[in-house]
Amino acid sequence: MTNRLVAGILCAGWMAAAVPLYAQDAARKDLVLRGDAQCTRCHDAEDNPAVLAIGKTRHGTTADGRTPSCVNCHGASETHINKPADAKERPGPERTFSKKSTTPVAARNQACLTCHQGGNRIHWQSSTHASRDLACSSCHQIHTAHDKARNKQTQTEVCFQCHKEQRAQVNRPSHHPVMEGKMSCSSCHNVHGDNPKQLVRASVNETCFSCHTEKRGPFVHNHQPVQEDCSICHNPHGTTAANLLKSRPPFLCQQCHSHTSHPSQASGLPTGRTTSNSLSGSVARGCLNCHTNIHGSNSTQNSATVGRFRR
Ligand code: HEC
Ligand code: HEC
Ligand code: HEC
Ligand code: HEC
Ligand code: HEC
Ligand code: HEC
Ligand code: HEC
Ligand code: HEC
Ligand code: HEC
Ligand code: HEC
Repeated sequence: MTNRLVAGILCAGWMAAAVPLYAQDAARKDLVLRGDAQCTRCHDAEDNPAVLAIGKTRHGTTADGRTPSCVNCHGASETHINKPADAKERPGPERTFSKKSTTPVAARNQACLTCHQGGNRIHWQSSTHASRDLACSSCHQIHTAHDKARNKQTQTEVCFQCHKEQRAQVNRPSHHPVMEGKMSCSSCHNVHGDNPKQLVRASVNETCFSCHTEKRGPFVHNHQPVQEDCSICHNPHGTTAANLLKSRPPFLCQQCHSHTSHPSQASGLPTGRTTSNSLSGSVARGCLNCHTNIHGSNSTQNSATVGRFRR
């Protein structure tokens, strides 16, 4: 802040006599980014928060000609650098990104998209997050060596600021290993994209198949809801029932299958509500004991003994 103080005095007191500030800049060295001297003569190592930490991020790879300087993000900011004589207070830079920023969100994001519109962000403008006025900097920290959003171990903290329901879900007994740090929200979501539910693939099933390839089939006998949408039976974030199931069998199954229609002629099968080994009995509960291949089966026969997802 020392430099800034000096600069302040220069502006306030010696306005007329002062050597033009840009002339002084020429003699100054850049500290972390190419061409940053015009800013870092005031925003130096004493700045709090530590602005210069940007030098430790990918944006600080000055050998890479594509990396930005301060003005690429904050704008040329002429009047901020050289406070006009008639201004009471130093005008702010052209673009700011903090929570209290008055720069319109779209203008803030445009500064980033100038370089980052490609790849995962090709459809940013039609994403749910864009339509809800999120800024890139709602998730990304630019002036810290460790951007929490980019690290599997810390990414959830960023999301949970706004998504409390998913926080509760991923802590339920059955869950994907997200809190264990083996997966992250972005294993399934491209939060910059416009796929349904901002998924990494065009549908729920395609997203699941990217890891659970064996569930894709093709199967000789398909189970209709499996083909339709895995999330009919599974909650991908977490559940109390095992296997990420929204409810336990037989209840899960009986949302669609009336147990009374279960063939009663085959011995050992549950028969009806009133019989001793009916719905509430152990046999009925174990729909999966018999229908073991619930996601689809490849049996070429379709008889009482081998068909119906039983092999
Ligand atoms: C002559 C000194 C000086 C120069 C040069 C200067 N700044 Fe500043 N800047 C200040 C002062 C003073 C403040 C306000 C006090 C503070 O926030 O610490 C400030 C605040 C800021 C803020 C915070 C604004 C806010 O509302 O959150 C940003 C961002 C900023 N400057 C960026 C830049 C950039 C980028 C450059 C170069 C293009 C630059 N500054 C050049 C003195 C300077
Ligand atoms: C890649 C874009 C980008 C570049 C390059 C960049 N900034 Fe920033 N700056 C931001 C964002 C975004 C914020 C909001 C806080 C954050 O995300 O860390 C910010 C915040 C600031 C702040 C306010 C800190 C606060 O939170 O009060 C200052 C001052 C600042 N930048 C100065 C600079 C200076 C000086 C440079 C050049 C050395 C620079 N910035 C380069 C994007 C950038
Ligand atoms: C002048 C071009 C430019 C601007 C403007 C710019 N970036 Fe970058 N950014 C880069 C380059 C180059 C890289 C490093 C190469 C890469 O990862 O593609 C990078 C890397 C990143 C990364 C990846 C960091 C990593 O660890 O891999 C993130 C996140 C990022 N930028 C976010 C932003 C955000 C948010 C803004 C706006 C506040 C912004 N960038 C503005 C050029 C830019
Ligand atoms: C809702 C939070 C969120 C918002 C908003 C967001 N990002 Fe990201 N971004 C992430 C996460 C999480 C990752 C890590 C993804 C991964 O590692 O696969 C990421 C990764 C990146 C990367 C590096 C990897 C890549 O995809 O190329 C860049 C660059 C980037 N974001 C730029 C941006 C820009 C520019 C914006 C604004 C237009 C933005 N982000 C808005 C959360 C966000
Ligand atoms: C600043 C708040 C904020 C942060 C941080 C945030 N989100 Fe969101 N997100 C929203 C809002 C607002 C919506 C719109 C729906 C809603 O109200 O829940 C949304 C919607 C979503 C959706 C549903 C998209 C759709 O099309 O229905 C997904 C998925 C999502 N966010 C994932 C994430 C992930 C993953 C992260 C962390 C990398 C994250 N979000 C960080 C605010 C946020
Ligand atoms: C294994 C894949 C997977 C992971 C990991 C994952 N999600 Fe999702 N998420 C989905 C699917 C599939 C949907 C859409 C179906 C649904 O809502 O059940 C979804 C939906 C959402 C929605 C929208 C919910 C709604 O009701 O519209 C939000 C918000 C969300 N996820 C946030 C997150 C956050 C935050 C994380 C990290 C803690 C995360 N997700 C991790 C697969 C995943
Ligand atoms: C990025 C890879 C990945 C994606 C995408 C993915 N999963 Fe998983 N899934 C895993 C891993 C890893 C496990 C844990 C395996 C283990 O613990 O042995 C798992 C476990 C499961 C389990 C068993 C959970 C338990 O309690 O044993 C179910 C069910 C499941 N996934 C369903 C889905 C569904 C539905 C989707 C799509 C919405 C999906 N997965 C997407 C990687 C993934
Ligand atoms: C009709 C309900 C239903 C649908 C729809 C469904 N599942 Fe399952 N899933 C189950 C049941 C029931 C189990 C427990 C199986 C068991 O205990 O043998 C299970 C278990 C799993 C498991 C963990 C055990 C294993 O077999 O590896 C994974 C992974 C899985 N399902 C992925 C998926 C995927 C991917 C989809 C979408 C393509 C999907 N499920 C659709 C009912 C369903
Ligand atoms: C969302 C609704 C839904 C759920 C939940 C569901 N199913 Fe199905 N199931 C169907 C539909 C639709 C068919 C196809 C009916 C037809 O072809 O007549 C089917 C067919 C079947 C068949 C017969 C296949 C054949 O060859 O006729 C069996 C066996 C079956 N389901 C078992 C189960 C079991 C066990 C569960 C629980 C783990 C379950 N289903 C959950 C909708 C569902
Ligand atoms: C003891 C083994 C067993 C158990 C337990 C069992 N099933 Fe079955 N299920 C069968 C057999 C065998 C068939 C084939 C009967 C046939 O084709 O005549 C069948 C057929 C079906 C069919 C196809 C009906 C039709 O009309 O074609 C459905 C649906 C079904 N079972 C659902 C369930 C559900 C839901 C449960 C749990 C409440 C369950 N089953 C428990 C063995 C069992």
